[in-house]
Amino acid sequence: GDGVFKYYSSGEWKKSSSGKSVPIINPSTRQPHFKVQACTQEEVNKLIEEAKTAQKSWAKTPLWKRAELLHKAAALLKEHKVPIAECLVKEIAKPAKDAATEAVRSGDLVSYCAEEGVRVLGEGKFMVSDSFPGNERTKYCLTAKIPLGVILAIPPFNYPVNLAVSKIAPALIAGNSIVLKPPTQGAVAALHMVHCFHLAGFPKGLISCVTGRGSEIGDFLTMHPMVNCISFTGGDTGIAISKKAGMIPLQMELGGKDACIILDDADLDLAAANIVKGGFSYSGQRCTAVKVVLVMESVANALVEKVKAKVAKLTVGLPEDDSDITPVVTESSANFIEGLVVDSKQKGATFCQEYRREGNLIWPLLLDNVRPDMRIAWEEPFGPVLPVIRITSAEEGIHHCNASNFGLQGCVFTRDISKAILISDAMETGTVQINSAPARGPDHFPFQGLKDSGIGSQGITNSINMMTKIKTTVINLP
Ligand code: G3H
Repeated sequence: GDGVFKYYSSGEWKKSSSGKSVPIINPSTRQPHFKVQACTQEEVNKLIEEAKTAQKSWAKTPLWKRAELLHKAAALLKEHKVPIAECLVKEIAKPAKDAATEAVRSGDLVSYCAEEGVRVLGEGKFMVSDSFPGNERTKYCLTAKIPLGVILAIPPFNYPVNLAVSKIAPALIAGNSIVLKPPTQGAVAALHMVHCFHLAGFPKGLISCVTGRGSEIGDFLTMHPMVNCISFTGGDTGIAISKKAGMIPLQMELGGKDACIILDDADLDLAAANIVKGGFSYSGQRCTAVKVVLVMESVANALVEKVKAKVAKLTVGLPEDDSDITPVVTESSANFIEGLVVDSKQKGATFCQEYRREGNLIWPLLLDNVRPDMRIAWEEPFGPVLPVIRITSAEEGIHHCNASNFGLQGCVFTRDISKAILISDAMETGTVQINSAPARGPDHFPFQGLKDSGIGSQGITNSINMMTKIKTTVINLP
């Protein structure tokens, strides 16, 4: 055709009546690579209405049948691993191996969700009235979990497939319908993922995928009166959405400034390996990346040396070659990162490597002796630049972590488990990892951020529960 990928509505692939398209820029070449439809508000309206209708009969479809379809989609996702991964390489410059892992992890997430769903949703509660003062045993209460309706799923560019299915699968198993708005970069990978659900044979209109410009359809989607729940992962846009959305449940996973606290009794080799993996995998473009190292002065030199040695071994180049460090997602992102680097240079940070950039490709950079007056101490670069702040007590580290407006995850390295637990209790973050880098997975663990890092909790069981409402029926005996 005209080379513009179609959007998905009413179980069919369609062209937008706008006649317009949105280009997807390959971060490595900075040239347009794909095009997707620029959908209109009328098209959004139509697919949301269809989602409402399709949801009614889907909610009556036996749970085991819903699970069966999800298992089919999961198997298809794994079969389509190669083309999905290829899109991720071209659209978001994800290293080839990580791109393939994302597809497989997504298939696993969908099947786990189907299995968990049949258990979580397959049982309810039975209560009697005489446990509350003044009541006889004349009321029997039955509880069940019912779907919310239409779920709007908005995943971010860094996991356009995995963070889409982490919303889609819990929504569907619980009897909801799905309207997916993928990020522009990653949209074609997401369309391919939706194709797997299409092939699995879900009813028409139950799942739709709308592409286009946020300026045209963003608010229209998030403020639509027929949307019953929004599950969003991304940046500041989430804060704006939460202010504009109606009286509906919101699941938000926003930014992070995950701190890594290193005590003087830490296993420094383990810490260094986790700092490099946590700070630089996918070039630091993960909400759970290590974004600030807070190390005790007594071991700081030794730690920085070990981290430097590992950074030197990172390969820098193209995602097709499976390089460790690949171009960041957009030129504006690269410019933002550079701004943080320049600021830290002016304010006297120690550069452990020379700063180097070619196009969107930024070489990994460790900044030592960072101080609180530098922007990099607080802001999220979402790139391969990692600040190190030297501390003289664990309290100082905890204080820096808690002074952040973010509260996603954090980690602490020490051989003293009691100390680690006390520090975990004191850190105001949704998760604290002891002796490992922050990470969302395994995907059935609860995943949540405090403060500006989010609303609600994810992880398979929590998402299923969040996308349902309790319904009770009370039997009144004579
Ligand atoms: O970017 C945000 C993701 O939820 C992080 O997931 O820890 O598996 O990279 P991850």
